[in-house]
Amino acid sequence: MIKKYHFGKPYNTEAVILPVPLATDTLPYFEVSAEKGLSFKLKLEKSDAVYGLGEAMRGINKRGYIYNSFCSDDPNHTEATRSLYGAHNFIVIEMGEKVFGAFFDTPSTLTFDVCYTAFDTLRITCENENMAVYIIDGDSIYDIVKEFRNAIGRSYIPPMWAFGYTQSRWSYIDKADVRRIAKGYRDLGIPLDAIYLDIDYMERYKDFTVNEENFGNLPEFVEEMKADGIRLVPIIDAGVKIEEGYDVYEEGIRNNYFCSDKDNKPFKACVWPGMTHFPDFLNPQVRTWFGAKYKILTDMGIEGFWNDMNEPAIFFSQNSVDETHRKIKKMADEEFSVDKFNELKFYIGSRQNCNEDYSAFYHNTPEGRFCHKDVHNLYGYNMTRSAGEALDKIEPSKRHLLFSRASYIGMHRYGGIWTGDNHSWWSHILNEIKVLPSLNMCGFLYVGADLGGFGCDTSRDLLLRWLSLGIFTPLMRNHAAAGTREQECFCFENPEDFKHIIDLRYRLIPYLYSEFMKASLENEMMFKPLAFEFPKDEVARHTEDQLLIGNELMIAPVYTQNALGRYVYLPEDMTAVRMTGGELSYTEMHKGHHFVEIAENEVVFFIRAGKAIPLCKAAKCVEDLDLDTIELVGTGKEYLLYTDDGFSKDYENPANFKTLKK
Ligand code: NOJ
Repeated sequence: MIKKYHFGKPYNTEAVILPVPLATDTLPYFEVSAEKGLSFKLKLEKSDAVYGLGEAMRGINKRGYIYNSFCSDDPNHTEATRSLYGAHNFIVIEMGEKVFGAFFDTPSTLTFDVCYTAFDTLRITCENENMAVYIIDGDSIYDIVKEFRNAIGRSYIPPMWAFGYTQSRWSYIDKADVRRIAKGYRDLGIPLDAIYLDIDYMERYKDFTVNEENFGNLPEFVEEMKADGIRLVPIIDAGVKIEEGYDVYEEGIRNNYFCSDKDNKPFKACVWPGMTHFPDFLNPQVRTWFGAKYKILTDMGIEGFWNDMNEPAIFFSQNSVDETHRKIKKMADEEFSVDKFNELKFYIGSRQNCNEDYSAFYHNTPEGRFCHKDVHNLYGYNMTRSAGEALDKIEPSKRHLLFSRASYIGMHRYGGIWTGDNHSWWSHILNEIKVLPSLNMCGFLYVGADLGGFGCDTSRDLLLRWLSLGIFTPLMRNHAAAGTREQECFCFENPEDFKHIIDLRYRLIPYLYSEFMKASLENEMMFKPLAFEFPKDEVARHTEDQLLIGNELMIAPVYTQNALGRYVYLPEDMTAVRMTGGELSYTEMHKGHHFVEIAENEVVFFIRAGKAIPLCKAAKCVEDLDLDTIELVGTGKEYLLYTDDGFSKDYENPANFKTLKK
């Protein structure tokens, strides 16, 4: 059961779309006070757990740390990082035998102090006193998540080709570069479904333009790639370059479509294109206008997009430039010292994505004028909503690939997310394992991390191990930052090792696609912590480096360097499936602890007792998969397969569900 409580006058974020009447009783469970705005306090026992918060660092159980819900462009995802790109304010609390969910629906910054300041106290605070809180009661964590997901609406469904392996880099600089990548994969027979175009495909980073010198006649190039089973997926950034003669800029100015400063002039901030204005995505008219621009690229044959820099990221504002100049001028007249050096260094670093800038611009919406800082977490959500709603109008019968960097709950209806600028660090493989179920709880099903790591140089073994996790995530993209070592699979020794792992992904697609579709259509989780499935098993409750995927499968990825394998906990008897040199072998294993040897070029996963999964033959791209080659493996006798054409939207058609029997 879901109940809604209001504090002050909450902003309608449109995260919850199910009509939920206002409750007449007072908020249960929490002690509410007006301390520092609004504060919700709950005492917990040592064995109680707090799950959720979507895209956040630390554990699946969030206890023991403090998290800020504030969409942040911060590429350093360390243990000390309190905010990432998404703001996902849904938690499930397990208190002894009792479980309940709570969604704190506000576009302002929230702090979740999960037994960090006081080891027995969960405290949620918000400086803004206006908020809607939803409380969800149910018998199990799954019931609660399902009820919540039902209230926030169905998760975005991508086209089936978006389940293929995809390659990205900041940036493939021209057509020859993209052809080189395609050839690198095709020559070695490593499957590939898409290549991403980062900001350099544009003319001087202007949204909805194409650099004619490097990517001239894009429609023809899109066709050429598609003929080889490869889609091109361009990036769209939030900031619109200020440039006379650039139609998007001029239309935005003419119609007052940009966020404004305190004097009602368009707010200026520097991002990749130089000085830009931010479209006011909180205004529905602006969403319609900006969204319609995606047609410029769909008319060229493009079928997917990634929306970036939409926290929105700000390198610096005009105000920061003026202040910095003032400071430097003043310092020039004084003696320079270590302290002055550090002061200047710190000052310049602190200008990026600073609160002063987020407080200096406004949204003009039909509901009124709002200071950005009070609605910050809705920006990326509404940029992606703008694209999603527009694509539904541009090509209504067709699914598009769409995912975003910044997000808020509600955006899950329009697109997926990638988890931003991670690093080529082993700890970031483990982070990905932990974030997947938390994202699913909040409605984000089409998710994935930059495989191999975005920042710094990857290594062959890191990429192999990360791909061995990535073959199970709906979005499977290898992406790297400018200036880092090339990390396409064909750049490394013994590329057949990469081929075998990626082939396995394609063999698993009938299963992964089916489980994704069931999770989306039934408002369920695709990635499940062992704790949710086996709540009475104390070891399972504390296992955070293994996951169940769908109803049949369990993974236990290796996330340490030079490891022979890893310890795996089986909460019940399972069949271990081992891929070695492209061949699969099967071993029955008993419930309990095991050390499982897994070489870098092997993958091991587990099928639950009495269950079977479909495997087909690999192909060079998703469209070439032949479902007639499906075999059922595992000890079970049947499997409910979901299949459709992968493009259209007739999701509920009963013909899409087929029971396969051995
Ligand atoms: C930041 C994004 O997170 C990254 O993926 C992208 O490559 C760069 N912006 C450049 O567009």
